[in-house]
Amino acid sequence: MKYKACLFDLDGVLVDTAVYHFQAWKILGKHFNFELSHEQNEELKGISRVESLDKILHWAHFQATQDQKGRWLKEKNETYLELISHMNPSEILPGVISFLDQLKEQGYLIALGSASKNAGIILEKTGLTNWFNAIIDGNVVTKSKPNPEVFLKGAEALGCPATACIVFEDAQAGIDAAKAGGMKVVGVGSPTILRGADKVISSFTELQVSELLLL
Ligand code: G6P
Ligand code: MG
Repeated sequence: MKYKACLFDLDGVLVDTAVYHFQAWKILGKHFNFELSHEQNEELKGISRVESLDKILHWAHFQATQDQKGRWLKEKNETYLELISHMNPSEILPGVISFLDQLKEQGYLIALGSASKNAGIILEKTGLTNWFNAIIDGNVVTKSKPNPEVFLKGAEALGCPATACIVFEDAQAGIDAAKAGGMKVVGVGSPTILRGADKVISSFTELQVSELLLL
C-alpha cells in the first residue's frame, strides 16, 4: 500500500468546534472591549490557546500583564468547556464516520494530531475515541503548528515513516505543518483560502479512500 496512515486534525476536520472557540473568545474579549471578527477567528484555527490570546490582545492593542493573561486563558477555557459539555455524536462532520470506516476496512492506521488540550474530552463526547490508534494533542506537543512536531509524533506513535502518512487539515498552519513534516496533505475547506495542500475537499462526503492513491 502506497500510504499506511491517516492523521487527522480535530477542530474543523472531524467536528466543528471553531464556533465554540469563537463564542468563548468573543465573551472573553468583553474584558478589553474587543469584538473578534470571523476573519480574525479564521487566523486562530490550528494555533494554541496561548498564541491565540497573544494574537487577540495584539489586534485589540491591549497590553496585558502576565497575571491578566493567566486569568483570561483560564476563563476562556472554562467558557469553552461549558460550551463543549453539550457536544454529542450529531456534531461529527458529514461523511467522517463513513470515511473512517473505509480506512479501517482497508487497513489504514489512524491518528489524531491536534493542538487542543481538550481533544480527549471532545473525542469522548462525540464517541470518536475508539477510531484512533494514537492520539497526539496539545498536552504532548511543545511546538505549535506550523511546526510539524504534532504530526511527526503521530507518525512515530503509529510506527510509520512520514512519507507513508496523509494529513487532513482545515487550517493553513496545519497544512504548512504537514508539508514541513514531509507528508501529503488534504485540506478541508475552501481552495481559495487553503494554500499548498495536495488536494482540497469541502467535506468528507466528496472523498473516497481509493482516491488517496492519486495523491
Ligand atoms: C485547535 C483549534 C484552535 C485552538 C487550539 C487549542 O487547534 O483550531 O483554534 O486554539 O486547538 O485548543 P484548546 O482546546 O487547547 O484551547
Ligand atoms: Mg483545525
